[in-house]
Amino acid sequence: MNIIKPLTLLFGSILFTFAEEIDETLFKRGYEVYKNNCSICHIEKATLRDFSQARLNVLSGRRPENIDAPPMNLVSARIKEFFPNEPEFIEFVKDYITNPSKDKGVCKPAAYSFFGVMPPIGQGMPEADKEAVAYWMYHRYSENWQEMFREVKKLQNLRKLKRVEAE
Ligand code: HEC
Repeated sequence: MNIIKPLTLLFGSILFTFAEEIDETLFKRGYEVYKNNCSICHIEKATLRDFSQARLNVLSGRRPENIDAPPMNLVSARIKEFFPNEPEFIEFVKDYITNPSKDKGVCKPAAYSFFGVMPPIGQGMPEADKEAVAYWMYHRYSENWQEMFREVKKLQNLRKLKRVEAE
């Protein structure tokens, strides 16, 4: 009996099940919503260096420079820590932008003390736009919060080491 064909079918369907299918139209609409409504405060992506600098500022009680809100890649990674599944993530974002409050937020406390709670920008926004921007936030980024934190700490230890060596 030829075993190859059933195996190919089996693995083919497993791959098909796990391959992430992105709804391009929704994703693009989400990016437009982001650019028009969110980008004025949330930059799209902070590099590890930016993240590291912001963390140093926060640790010494200073406001992160040149930004008015946490960068979107950090926000997305942070929310995924609490709501890893897409439907809950999307629900959370839609609700938060409509009725933001410190109580329900999952950002680090420093975000609220340096920037304040975000305005209810989602009020009056069409439901479909909220859905799209939340969808975009979920699929745009693949960073993992814990990993980013580890990398930033590594970067900072390295800097400390360099400083000590230079003294
Ligand atoms: C006027 C500035 C401003 C605009 C515009 C803005 N945000 Fe925010 N956003 C903030 C600030 C500041 C925070 C951090 C404090 C907080 O979480 O409320 C934040 C936090 C968030 C969070 C994390 C919530 C939490 O605390 O767990 C989400 C999600 C978010 N923003 C989504 C959006 C989306 C989507 C848009 C556009 C539709 C948007 N924001 C527009 C300022 C803004």
